[in-house]
Amino acid sequence: MKYDRIDKQLYIKNRADFRQLMEPNSLAVFNSNDIFPISADSTMPFQQHRDILFLSGVDQEESILVIFPDSKNEAHKEVLFLKETSDLIAVWEGEKLNKVQAFEVSGIKTVYWLNQFPVIFKQMMADASNVYINTNEHLRANTEVETREDRFIKQLKSDYPAHQVKKSAPIMHRIRSIKDAIEIELLQKACKITEAGVRRLLSYIKPGVWEYEIEAELAHEFLRNRSKGFAYTPIIASGKNACVLHYIENNQQCKDGDVILLDVGAEYANYASDLTRCIPVNGRFTTRQKEVYNAVLHVKKSAEKLLVPGTIMAEYQKEVGRIMEGQLLNLGLISQLDITNQNPEWPAYKKYFMHGTSHFMGLDTHDVGLWNEPIKAGMVFTCEPGIYIPEEGLGIRLEDDLVVQESGAPFNLMKDIPLEAEEIETLMNE
Ligand code: GLY
Ligand code: MN
Ligand code: MN
Repeated sequence: MKYDRIDKQLYIKNRADFRQLMEPNSLAVFNSNDIFPISADSTMPFQQHRDILFLSGVDQEESILVIFPDSKNEAHKEVLFLKETSDLIAVWEGEKLNKVQAFEVSGIKTVYWLNQFPVIFKQMMADASNVYINTNEHLRANTEVETREDRFIKQLKSDYPAHQVKKSAPIMHRIRSIKDAIEIELLQKACKITEAGVRRLLSYIKPGVWEYEIEAELAHEFLRNRSKGFAYTPIIASGKNACVLHYIENNQQCKDGDVILLDVGAEYANYASDLTRCIPVNGRFTTRQKEVYNAVLHVKKSAEKLLVPGTIMAEYQKEVGRIMEGQLLNLGLISQLDITNQNPEWPAYKKYFMHGTSHFMGLDTHDVGLWNEPIKAGMVFTCEPGIYIPEEGLGIRLEDDLVVQESGAPFNLMKDIPLEAEEIETLMNE
């Protein structure tokens, strides 16, 4: 791992939170991700499944966590199964956790090698009535590949048809949505690395620079700060490309007079950061560009204030829509008539602001969370309004990551990243 060891108290507490929400006489199983193949003997870099990571800190493939609070065998209340390692295996395959290290990372005392799983799991299942399985219930998940977890669930249902199956996902969404102080620190670190990347760019961007050159500068800055790199595929979109919401080609030259939309964030220790800034290629916004920029900034500042305990996210989105409507009227992009005639299902403002304002953020960029309950302190959201005007070759989105506080405005993890148009101009022209 490039990141510094995380205090195992985090994982001890996370498992306690999970146990609290389990039914009696139940066990829960969490699988790691596979290492995904490319072709020949090539593989994608490993990315741990965020749930086993959240509950154990184990950041390696071929790992299983079982939580069984009511086990009569004290040693089986929580168990890790890991890929076998030894000094000899380490020479060939590289360092993996040994049993002592696994305890130091996770706080779990009972660690077996993976080849012992079938026999030990059978004993555990014989004593349990219910089994919690970990299906992916993220509303936007859209995966065609069968994950290690999917394969495990299929096998489990065939091997143990008499057990009651329960869902881990609602529990995970609940406990992952409120961030621990240790997690907030890690998110802050990811945001600070992103900040270093942005500051590097402000003196680098000039007319003629290519979008991929900007991507390379960011990658360099992220990696030298112990990040694995981008938390999600970066969007570096100059001019009209900024109006393509998921533009990831990053292969165009940035022209004098254009604005570049940068939706980029570093990861740190698997925690994401999610930022958007818009930067004038030549160091100065035109009057019109600044008008649109400041309209988005106004919406962002107003929206952020609504991220307080008790807010219902569906109502928040409606309110932000109303604020945006006022700005689009001022900019002359929509008219009062457009609003009078609008389809309530697709209000007029959506022509220029067609995406959501906020999402949960954490171990996943679009993190899991409770969308239908009032929000609470400790939740982390992005705030990212935007205005996209293809006919003007201009797209502006501004995005920060915010922690909901017990009282008052949310804490902005990106408060030190230049945001005001004038500050960006000043830094670019120093
Ligand atoms: N970068 C993805 C998003 O802003 O949601
Ligand atoms: Mn983003
Ligand atoms: Mn976002």
